[in-house]
Amino acid sequence: MNDLLLKALAGEPVERPPVWFMRQAGRYLPEYHVTRAEAGSFLGLCRKPPLAAEVTLQPLRRFPLDASIVFNDILVPPAAMGMDLDFVQGKGPVFSDPLREVADLDRLKMPSIAEDMPEVLETIRLLVAQLDVPLFGFCGAPFTLAAYMIEGSGSKDFRHAKAFAYKHPAAFARLLDMLAEVTGQYLLAQVEAGCAAAQLFDTWAGDLSQDDFQRWALPYAKKALAPLAGKAPRLYFSRNMGPFMGVVQQVEADAYALDWRVDIAAARKLFGPDVPVMGNLDPIALFGPDELIREKVHSIIRAAGPRGHIFNLGHGVGPHTPIAGVKAMVEAVRDWRW
Ligand code: CP3
Repeated sequence: MNDLLLKALAGEPVERPPVWFMRQAGRYLPEYHVTRAEAGSFLGLCRKPPLAAEVTLQPLRRFPLDASIVFNDILVPPAAMGMDLDFVQGKGPVFSDPLREVADLDRLKMPSIAEDMPEVLETIRLLVAQLDVPLFGFCGAPFTLAAYMIEGSGSKDFRHAKAFAYKHPAAFARLLDMLAEVTGQYLLAQVEAGCAAAQLFDTWAGDLSQDDFQRWALPYAKKALAPLAGKAPRLYFSRNMGPFMGVVQQVEADAYALDWRVDIAAARKLFGPDVPVMGNLDPIALFGPDELIREKVHSIIRAAGPRGHIFNLGHGVGPHTPIAGVKAMVEAVRDWRW
């Protein structure tokens, strides 16, 4: 078993950082489109363990990566709580019945992981039987899930979600508490099924003000990660983390994924040498020439230092990304020696 990822997460010395990337399975790979067509729909793909396992493995066949991430989506738990989820071509995820009034929260049920989301656990079991790299489990953080559940879809400003929080703070806190309970149990079930590490995606928390980040994002992300303490290393990711670097460690994760706007050397100085970080190449840099990718990769590795760094993009890889750019990034990381 390749243990580079777990060594880096433990802060042990490594000769080069481990490399994997968020959304490493997906639309930039032609073979993904073939399997997705076979599944009939994106959600169908998430819910068919042999096909979900197949797309998880596809990037590992192309690139010598040091970690895998189970193929799924952060919005599967809200669907298991009773919301009607669809992925609309060109629009992304859509809930046809968003939570817009306080009374709408009564529609939500507390799901049983084993009964309402058994597919992801089955996919994990299929994968760990054949992988020789650690497998990440993941989940959306309570604030980010609540934002989608209230908004009903992606949004530039999440105005319905934020307005709900400002108008109905007690009900919003109740929703976040329920989501923290679900996500904590869900992450724990993924680790018990065989995942070696877990990542919490709080993609939209970076859109909050300082006090709202501390009120609506941090405490619930912390609660979601707590059941995993001592069981598996836990990473916390938020897009646009920069403004919150001084407070984010209140989440009490074991490591932090940094988006590309963050100066990784400054982050290491602020967090201290014992807090591992992951990141943080701009995903759009992969559209550039190989030489530029190589320089950027090496400058990030140099700035992050020899211990406690996992190489990754600063956000997920996009659907139009050239495969040659991904290959150049992975090779540049693998060529590095401390
Ligand atoms: O990293 C991996 O390889 C695992 C798979 C993974 C997916 N979604 C597959 C996916 C992961 C880790 C996610 C997380 C996710 N999903 C997040 C958090 C991370 C982030 O990128 O900020 C969010 C916010 C979502 C919600 C979501 N799911 C959106 C906004 C979209 C549409 C994206 C778009 O560009 O259209 C999805 C759909 C989705 N999830 C796809 C994939 C491969 C594309 C679906 C398709 O095949 O059409």
